[in-house]
Amino acid sequence: MHIAIIGTGYVGLVTGACFAEFGVFVTCVDKDQEKIEKLKKGIIPFYEPGLDDIVKRNLKEDRLKFTTQIDEAVNEALVIFIAVGTPPRGDGSANLEYVKEVAKEIAKNMTSYKVIVTKSTVPVGTGAKIKEIIRQNLEKPVEFDIVSNPEFLREGSAVEDFIRPNRVVIGAESEQAIAIMKDLYKPLYLIETPFVITDIPTSELIKYATNSFLATKISFINEISALCEAVGANVNTVAKAMGLDGRIGPKFLHAGIGFGGSCLPKDTMAIVKIAEEKGVKLNIVKAAIEANQRQRERLTEKIINAFNNNIDGKVIGILGLSFKPNTDDIREAPAIYIIQILQKKKAIIKVYDPAAMENTKNIFPEIVYCSDAYSVAKNADALVVVTEWNQFRNLDLEKLKTLMKGDLFFDFRNIYDPQRVKQSGFKYFGVGRH
Ligand code: UDX
Repeated sequence: MHIAIIGTGYVGLVTGACFAEFGVFVTCVDKDQEKIEKLKKGIIPFYEPGLDDIVKRNLKEDRLKFTTQIDEAVNEALVIFIAVGTPPRGDGSANLEYVKEVAKEIAKNMTSYKVIVTKSTVPVGTGAKIKEIIRQNLEKPVEFDIVSNPEFLREGSAVEDFIRPNRVVIGAESEQAIAIMKDLYKPLYLIETPFVITDIPTSELIKYATNSFLATKISFINEISALCEAVGANVNTVAKAMGLDGRIGPKFLHAGIGFGGSCLPKDTMAIVKIAEEKGVKLNIVKAAIEANQRQRERLTEKIINAFNNNIDGKVIGILGLSFKPNTDDIREAPAIYIIQILQKKKAIIKVYDPAAMENTKNIFPEIVYCSDAYSVAKNADALVVVTEWNQFRNLDLEKLKTLMKGDLFFDFRNIYDPQRVKQSGFKYFGVGRH
């Protein structure tokens, strides 16, 4: 089978490369000539473990092609995935301009039956809109079907998530389209991955509901962490015991500095907007968004309070910049928020991150970039663990303490044993642990 993926961003590239790995012939299309030239050489524009191997192998074996020519790709493909960005507008709603533009281009180049699939996270009702746009822009009468097939890829483990997903969701109106989609996902069907086959609006909503629930779980435990600090309880133990209840489950119940990234913040805002437009109140999702903002503020205040509200000239070392480990993505990253606030208050900022320093340099060219955690510690008054990269989980605390000027250790992902940190001569500040 031949397929086309329009948009070689994060979702498009992972989807295209992984389908090629399944043995499908894939053409990835993007308007960005420079990006396409790099991809043809196997150069990936972002950091994602395992992806470059798959891209290089499938390029070599001629199952994966990159082009800027949408007409050729559409012509050859039976299934066309729309995987372009849906960035948030000022009011939180998803901007569908790119999706609509691509739908028009697909329509203009269609000469035979096609299945047109939305992979991008799109508001409920987008499938119907795309259908209408395609109908209006067809140059001759051609049959086609619209499918919603949301992605559930986590950055940092996207390849694994694609190849061994918890489920595949397919929203469609026709039996033919469902059969083609099942055929495309045959390797997963054979390993008994659960398939949820439904209508298009339900499929579109599943993605938003899932991400909103994950965000709610994180914000819930983060609010409990504030209460734990107030009453002298330990949030890790509370979460552990809660998670042992089979109805709750242990995942996404780690208290920390809150969620970031390109999905949870954007999708929670978008679902609230979708609901508002329909006159429905999503109070719980709204509260999850607010609690997330409050958590980063609260933890940043902890740093400032530890210096008695005066951090002018203090050297603060930040360990981890990406919104989570194994990615170079700093969108909505808590570290960026912390740096902004501390800088305003005239602190001197030193940072290290295994992957996200280049991206951060675009926002903060003036802060001090270091080669590892120990150079961050040199002459620092405080160290703040913001992202739980494996490299930060087992640092030599005695060595850190010797290098530092001060003795403040902020563990905003609760990855250290407080007693152990204190034994090394530090004052320890975690999340929800007295
Ligand atoms: C998420 C969804 O998991 C994925 O299915 C979806 O398609 C895209 O959005 P991603 O944005 O890559 O993926 O990150 P994820 O691993 O879900 O983590 C989101 C955020 O929550 C991170 O900032 C992480 O640090 C935070 N988090 C996660 C917590 O603070 N506590 C937890 O227990 C879990």
